[in-house]
Amino acid sequence: MRREQTLNRLSSSDELETIRESIIKSRDSNQPGIAICGGTGCLALGGAGVITAFKREIEEHGLGTKVDLRITGCPGFCEKGPLVVIEPGNILYQQVKGEDVAQIISQTVLQGKIVDELLYLDIESGKKIVHEGDIPFYKKQKRLLLANNSRIDPNNINDYLALGGYAALSKALFRMSPEQVIEEVKQSGLRGRGGGGFPAGIKWESCCQVQGDSRYIICNCDEGDPGAFMDRSLMEGNPHSALEGMLIGAYAIGAHEGYIYVRNEYPVAVRNAEIAIKQAEEYGLLGKNILGSGFDFSVKINRGGGAFVCGESTALMASLEGKPGEPRAKYVHTVEKGLWDKPTNLNNVETWANVPLIINHGADWYTKIGTEGSKGTKIFSLVGKINNTGLIEVPMGITLREIIYDIGGGIPGGKKFKAVQTGGPSGGFIPESLLELPVDFDELSKVGSMMGSGGMIVADENTCMVDMAKYFLSFLEEESCGKCVPCREGIKRMREILTETTEGKGKDGDIELLERLSEAIMNGSLCALGTAAPNPVLTTIRYFRDEYEAHIKDKRCPAGVCKELITYSIIEEKCPGCGLCVKACPTEAITFMGKKKPVVLGQDKCIKCGACYDVCKLDAIKIK
Ligand SMILES: Cc1cc2nc3c(=O)[nH]c(=O)nc-3n(C[C@H](O)[C@H](O)[C@H](O)COP(=O)(O)O)c2cc1C
Ligand code: FES
Repeated sequence: MRREQTLNRLSSSDELETIRESIIKSRDSNQPGIAICGGTGCLALGGAGVITAFKREIEEHGLGTKVDLRITGCPGFCEKGPLVVIEPGNILYQQVKGEDVAQIISQTVLQGKIVDELLYLDIESGKKIVHEGDIPFYKKQKRLLLANNSRIDPNNINDYLALGGYAALSKALFRMSPEQVIEEVKQSGLRGRGGGGFPAGIKWESCCQVQGDSRYIICNCDEGDPGAFMDRSLMEGNPHSALEGMLIGAYAIGAHEGYIYVRNEYPVAVRNAEIAIKQAEEYGLLGKNILGSGFDFSVKINRGGGAFVCGESTALMASLEGKPGEPRAKYVHTVEKGLWDKPTNLNNVETWANVPLIINHGADWYTKIGTEGSKGTKIFSLVGKINNTGLIEVPMGITLREIIYDIGGGIPGGKKFKAVQTGGPSGGFIPESLLELPVDFDELSKVGSMMGSGGMIVADENTCMVDMAKYFLSFLEEESCGKCVPCREGIKRMREILTETTEGKGKDGDIELLERLSEAIMNGSLCALGTAAPNPVLTTIRYFRDEYEAHIKDKRCPAGVCKELITYSIIEEKCPGCGLCVKACPTEAITFMGKKKPVVLGQDKCIKCGACYDVCKLDAIKIK
């Protein structure tokens, strides 16, 4: 396996380059490499067993010093995990199980033969695909940040250094003034990836210009949005990229202390960030007199307070100070008075991770990627009713259709696409008619949604849009910190109206009432949790008003989801009496009447859970 050197303190940029060269030289590029995804998705699918099996097989074959085994972060294609990539050849094996490992070692690693049954099968062409880059899921992506996830063991700083890590820091420290760094970031057009899309360079400049003896840098890795795992995967898979970005930002702004605020429910991200900080300190890339430049910067980790609102910048700073995570009004900006009332520059993990790329390649290079108003790439977590669930990184300006069909592989079961929600729980739903929309900050806002931090949830024809709006409002109601009345009471009232609507108790005028409440909440709330909360409701009213009207006027749920408005019944001509639904029903509402005789469903016992509908393969159950 891998032999690594001890981490000696580096005291100049020359020493950094020397150590980089020696790491590269010490690695034999012809040596077989095995990269196993150790991301949370693959671990949940049995990845830990695969890792153990590889370690065992390698030992049994005496390959300890002959193969380069690397446990990496998430390369994105979580749907097909656990994933293993074998080098040379960039062979991607998917859905690997512990029992496949012996074959991978004996055939691929030792003999260079491909194990056909572990390759990805492209449904459209019917062909097996060997190389990661040839899989349609990856073809339209532009993975400036994520590509290194599968090349790096996040617990080994040498992997990051071997790929050019900390060269941007060295360039900034020794060849650029702080003003030049800020100018480069401004020129790049980099906008914050945490939600608002505020230009990073302008924020840095404002923070830098505030008078004060000390100032802080914060990396926001809270990510409390349901269905989102972009920041987690970046922190788990490549923590040094964010650390390097923070270091460059700190140098530019003149900060000497920084924090990574990471969600406590992300244990792998917390651990990998801790290890990354320790290793960077050992190399002298963090701490006093970094690389002999005279610049000092240290970073601490703070675990999140466990609430969605703690991701909001002012609530986060309150939480970091040990106070309840509640936002404050921002008439005084955090760049002036942030953490402990000192000038503070907070950016999202993905924003920080873009910075080394910009410094290395220059703003001109960066501005060539993306659209007029949104430069670079964006990471999205693609979830919901989509074939290829996973993490994607795409150039700004790609269309929603390309994301959902070319990368996401379309909707499972050949169902019809209905909408996609972008921007997290307070993002808006975008309908099929807008699938050609280029994805960037401004275009998404124009249609009533937003970029947010990058959650993308796909809904199919069987999704009730009123029910979806209710789900997100329930989440936001629960997560509202309660400090301001419009958000605390307004969201609750909106959720109550939506609940009544899904229960068939909606009244004429409710849609208009929802719209009026939305306006009041957006105008009066203290923070963006409240001001954005009505988005799911407003966009579903805007694009799916007919569904609201069907619930209110006809007491009907067109998607067949809202329990109070539907009944399940058996289509006798189609039912062969197989009994599958009888077994699935948790309340014994379905009676077996004998072979080849249709079953009987008792409405009095039916709780409308849909278990019978889900198991019936013959469409013999209908929803009315
Ligand atoms: C309720 C709420 C939750 C938020 N959660 C996060 C989060 O988890 N991560 C994040 O980076 N930004 C989050 N934000 C946005 C932050 O307030 C802030 O704008 C962002 O972190 C700034 O970084 P950026 O300029 O790099 O985007 C949240 C905002 C709100 C209103
Ligand atoms: S966690 Fe392994 S591919 Fe995403």
